[in-house]
Amino acid sequence: MIQRTLGPRSVSAIGLGGMPMSIEGRPDAERSVATIHAALDAGITLIDTADAYHLHAGEVGHNEELIAAALKTYGGDTSQVLVATKGGHLRPGDGSWTQDGRPEYLKAAAKASAQRLGVEAIGLYQFHRPDPKVPYADSIGAIVELLDEGVIQLAGISNASVAQIDQANQLLGGRLVSVQNQFSPNFGSSLVELKHCAELGIAFLPWSPLGGIRNAAELGNRHAAFAQIAAVHGVSPQQVTLAWELALAPIVIPIPGASRPASIQDSAKAAELELTAVEVATLTETV
Ligand SMILES: NC(=O)c1ccc[n+]([C@@H]2O[C@H](COP(=O)([O-])OP(=O)(O)OC[C@H]3O[C@@H](n4cnc5c(N)ncnc54)[C@H](OP(=O)(O)O)[C@@H]3O)[C@@H](O)[C@H]2O)c1
Repeated sequence: MIQRTLGPRSVSAIGLGGMPMSIEGRPDAERSVATIHAALDAGITLIDTADAYHLHAGEVGHNEELIAAALKTYGGDTSQVLVATKGGHLRPGDGSWTQDGRPEYLKAAAKASAQRLGVEAIGLYQFHRPDPKVPYADSIGAIVELLDEGVIQLAGISNASVAQIDQANQLLGGRLVSVQNQFSPNFGSSLVELKHCAELGIAFLPWSPLGGIRNAAELGNRHAAFAQIAAVHGVSPQQVTLAWELALAPIVIPIPGASRPASIQDSAKAAELELTAVEVATLTETV
């Protein structure tokens, strides 16, 4: 698998998003573990998760525990795998997503995530989403402390504007390594943050890179240009979408979600799919 840079680390150009294996519509644990093992077999070394990827109240960290268990039972080498988790979102169990960006909450949440992942220090910890009730600098201040104390090895943010990227990077003393924002043919407005990350040399991880769990299967029907170019290459529109995202800048590392081995096996092949400059430009124009 082709590699990309994430801070000081080298990771697979395509990551795995863990969310579909733990929220509404999730499969049984056996299928989830098979999906994570299929990703590892395909050379994927970046797995994205969050403490909030669960369904019911009282099962915080469902996805983190699933990933930790799958890594433990994998037969091959997992030493190069970077597990990226997040804190700052909560799921009370009624289907909603709430936020808590208070420093004391984030610091406790990160320590709980480390325990669930079975690591002394979290490989990459991302502040999940700005909390309108808490000054952004206060939340990022907690991330700075976690980094300084060695609870986390690398710091990232998610759902951030250009101004927040700059503010977080400044507060972190230039140690911000990744930004995770929504980006797909369905949602192109964060191209501005993607380009900003490219200028700064910070990894940009598109979330819902295929348009989200509910839309991913229909990508080719909703975005004709992606389906047309997929037909030319004899691959899926989803693969073309991920290859297009990779082609936008060398700092892009998409994290397509999956709950079936076949999905992530297909997505992983996008790292090797080369689109022409004309194809990339044509696709970008439609977004
Ligand atoms: N930071 C944030 O606020 C935030 C928000 C949302 C998501 N995320 C992260 O981003 C990750 C990706 O987003 P997402 O899971 O919401 O949406 P997504 O990646 O756009 O779509 C996920 C769905 O795509 C399907 N899929 C994957 N590869 C495919 C392929 N090659 N061909 C056909 N279908 C394919 C999967 O189906 P199957 O389930 O059938 O395998 C999966 O359910 C999440 O898993 C999570 O880690 C972060």
